Amino acid sequence: MTEPLALYIHWPFCAAKCPYCDFNSHVRDSIDEARFAAALRRELAHEAARMGRRPLASIFFGGGTPSLMSPDTVAALIADARALFDAAPDIEITLEANPTSVEIGRLAAFRAAGVNRASLGVQSLEAEALRFLGRRHDVREAIAALEAARTIFPRLSFDLIYARPGQAEAAWRAELKRALALAADHLSLYQLTIEAGTQFATLHARGDFALPEGDDAARLYHATAEEAARFGLLPYEVSNYARPGAESRHNLAYWRYGDYLGIGPGAHQRLLSDGGMVATRRHRAPEEWALRVERHGHAAVEQEVLTPQDRAREALLMGLRLAEGVDPARIAARSGLPFAQAVDPAMLAALLDEGYLAWTPAGRLRATTEGIVRLDALLPVLLR
Ligand SMILES: C[S@@+](CC[C@H](N)C(=O)[O-])C[C@H]1O[C@@H](n2cnc3c(N)ncnc32)[C@H](O)[C@@H]1O
Ligand code: SF4
Repeated sequence: MTEPLALYIHWPFCAAKCPYCDFNSHVRDSIDEARFAAALRRELAHEAARMGRRPLASIFFGGGTPSLMSPDTVAALIADARALFDAAPDIEITLEANPTSVEIGRLAAFRAAGVNRASLGVQSLEAEALRFLGRRHDVREAIAALEAARTIFPRLSFDLIYARPGQAEAAWRAELKRALALAADHLSLYQLTIEAGTQFATLHARGDFALPEGDDAARLYHATAEEAARFGLLPYEVSNYARPGAESRHNLAYWRYGDYLGIGPGAHQRLLSDGGMVATRRHRAPEEWALRVERHGHAAVEQEVLTPQDRAREALLMGLRLAEGVDPARIAARSGLPFAQAVDPAMLAALLDEGYLAWTPAGRLRATTEGIVRLDALLPVLLR
């Protein structure tokens, strides 16, 4: 119960909506930043008052585009979090930033505000791909942002999207090698997915483009791991690669099913207490969220005490994404359900037998390389 907290803070605005993105992000002609900053601070204070002082291991400013926030807002939220909780001496404070020139100019101010890890949304190092992905930066800006961020932040990660239409393995290996040469200690490498309700969903449905699938996607995935390993970056989660020790502690808290607090529009939260595991979701629409916080101190729209079955399912869904896999004793402790009851024993035996899952010598269950690329298909049959 005294697990350190991970704190997520959502900034829901972007300069433009990317055609592939279904995150809770909105474009507005003008944003009343003072209002949203005050509402974020109020919701944070409200939650902290309810749960009391706890150790705080990480803060993550995500979005949307949090690099569009003013550094003063970021500084105020960090100061509040430090005042309300017991920040670990090595607290990890990450901010997602888009690599446009405006934002590059603010990186030093974010560092001064207390951010010690930047995550840049580079997405591609190819001009044509950046255009296809509807990005507002070009390759030159992406590289300038990476070079600036490397000198400013002790820790740095960036995102790339691959398995794009028509992307050949050799071309991806070449692009990735260029990226790895620029990389610091962490990379997030996502295969492009088509999300319902996005512009890409419409274009894809009408046949404007197709994505690499099945064996082609699996080949790209294996090529990715191979190239990253040459640079000492190991996959510790399906899409995340790090030098040992440089894993994102904040994201590990989600995958290990730890306690996390989520502040801001649409943010999710999981907190375990005597009353069980409470899942909270906040209103997604920015203005309605702010209004509710102004009226009630918070904008939670759903608060549900999860059943042991729900908890075991969530813990396994998250944990089997990790290279380290899951510890059955932890699944039981976090869910209240014995591990043997959380999975279908016949399916577990079959998946172990077919080599998609394996037990480690330390008694953890993990997905094998073959299992990882089929995780989305395996999990529903494994879980009860
Ligand atoms: C919240 S978004 C990024 C934050 C920041 N606004 C940006 O665009 O750089 C987190 C990451 O998810 C990835 N992403 C979003 N939608 C995706 C999709 N449909 N397929 C693959 N990756 C996606 C992108 O790499 C993106 O950087
Ligand atoms: S990918 Fe980033 S910049 Fe693009 S719409 Fe999504 S959150 Fe905004």
